[in-house]
Amino acid sequence: MKIIQTENYQLMSKLASQHVINTIKQINKPVIGLATGSTPEGLYQHLIKAYHNHEISFANVSTFNLDEYVGLHKENTNSYHYYMQKFLFNHVDIPSKNIHLPNGMANDLNNECTSYENQIQQAGGIHIQILGIGRNGHIGFNEPGTSFESQTHVIDLDESTRKANARFFDSFDNVPKQAITMGIKSIMRSTEILLLVSGSEKADALEKLLNGEVNEDFPASILQTHQNVKIIADKAALRNISCNYVSETM
Ligand code: F6R
Repeated sequence: MKIIQTENYQLMSKLASQHVINTIKQINKPVIGLATGSTPEGLYQHLIKAYHNHEISFANVSTFNLDEYVGLHKENTNSYHYYMQKFLFNHVDIPSKNIHLPNGMANDLNNECTSYENQIQQAGGIHIQILGIGRNGHIGFNEPGTSFESQTHVIDLDESTRKANARFFDSFDNVPKQAITMGIKSIMRSTEILLLVSGSEKADALEKLLNGEVNEDFPASILQTHQNVKIIADKAALRNISCNYVSETM
């Protein structure tokens, strides 16, 4: 695991974007796993800038998002479909056929999960998976207690996750109770994982990820066992970590 510290959120986002840009340039048909939430917004802004500066094209890029709420239409402003259009896809040249998110409105949710997992495999797997982390250690929406063997599945969201995400909704009651998420195993199959962490409210989670036991009660701890993980975190998120094994460059 490589840990890179940046001064702040902006520099974390910039460094992450440089890494993703390099991946897009180096791989013929890159398959990128995407996250939503507050953390990757800055990264997406930098990717859009790089596209406008003719540095990269998304014409050959395929994407698979980690998760989507159950019961929200694509057009719902709180859906992750909507988020991705707003923060990335509407501004770059990615063909819509290359964009994949789970369909939280599917009649048969289990079938949707199997089909999503199959689509990832058919695309040849994910080259680089972008992750954020929940304060309870979730990655994707794999809440504490999720099996490390899980593939794409329906999850009941923790009350703490619904509370954390209530900031995007009119009220807590409107936050969906379920989501479809890639499983831990689906995430771990990615060739590379790029975890972004920002802010002091994530410091305890990051410390537990790095120093805690590998345990299903803290899903992100599994990342300790992946061969190719880069964590880009700002100073605030790394405040509990000794500088000894933290680097300032990629
Ligand atoms: C989002 C996702 C979640 C978030 C996590 C952190 O697709 O899968 O795991 O990465 O909840 O969210 P933020 O970045 O809003 O703190």
